[in-house]
Amino acid sequence: MYPNTRLRRLRKNANIRALVSETKLSHTDFIYPIFVVPGQGVCQEISAMPGQFLYSCDQLPAIIKKLDDTGVYSILLFGQTTEKSARGESSYDEVSVVCQAIQYIKKTYPHFTVMTDVCLCSYTDHGHCGPIVEGYVNNDATLDIISQMALSHAKAGADFVAPSGMMDGMVIAIRQKLDAADFTEVGILSYSVKYASGFYGPFREAADSKPQEGDRKSYQMDPANIREALHEAELDVLEGADMLMVKPGMPYLDVIAALNKSFNLPILAYQVSGEYSMIKAASQKGWIDEKVVALESLLAFKRAGATAIITYFALDAAKWLAECNI
Ligand code: PBG
Repeated sequence: MYPNTRLRRLRKNANIRALVSETKLSHTDFIYPIFVVPGQGVCQEISAMPGQFLYSCDQLPAIIKKLDDTGVYSILLFGQTTEKSARGESSYDEVSVVCQAIQYIKKTYPHFTVMTDVCLCSYTDHGHCGPIVEGYVNNDATLDIISQMALSHAKAGADFVAPSGMMDGMVIAIRQKLDAADFTEVGILSYSVKYASGFYGPFREAADSKPQEGDRKSYQMDPANIREALHEAELDVLEGADMLMVKPGMPYLDVIAALNKSFNLPILAYQVSGEYSMIKAASQKGWIDEKVVALESLLAFKRAGATAIITYFALDAAKWLAECNI
């Protein structure tokens, strides 16, 4: 102890600090979410998410090129439709904007890893993540539809499909559907632990996926629970998930750490829309430094045990890391 031990010796300068740093961030840690919408010439900023846009397919080349130039080669696609319905059938349209986007990206940038969100909330007219039967989102009817949706993405060339509706059995239903069609190499990133969270607000505006009535508490998890999170993750592992996800991110670092301790699969953290908006808004007011806070939050995910991070900051963070010389 003091005076023999002085921990400040290891903090003396940037090089020593870098040498002893326990956690490192890299541009290869990031997955960038992209919102694809029907239409032509659409490149519309999301009001609550400054710097993030809705893109029609013809507007994708510029943003994908930027990602390529910055070394962010992993993306997560979200789609929309002009044909919402009670069951959300347009979600598995083989010429959906998501399928078109996958085809374009994989053809032009084969080294990219393309993941797709598999959920019905942007495709149902009521905004819930599955068809409603007698006032309740029907689990098994949802499985049929999301499996078809996953298959349409696999056919278009997706590398991973990411079911996000928190339906029981979603991973095994999709695995069986993909395998039966010989897509054994397409992986499943499961939104294993997804909480019914207020932090998704800005996303729901962007994805036009707000429930018309009620909330998602009958399928997404109660923020109070962590043992249940381990149970969810355990079932996904048994069902054949390739990667697990915890969402939202920063308020749930304890959940990331718990999953990391208990499972040997990659654990992804999703820094969701509300987390991005808060950092953006406070920094625009001059109350916090955007770059410092964003990088600190991303580092925290890795320290907690996340293998990779889905983040709207992916592009900026990769640029900041490239600039950063000690
Ligand atoms: C679809 C889905 C949501 C998000 C990702 N997939 C919204 C929701 O569950 O309501 C949220 C992502 C974000 O907030 O950035 N079910």
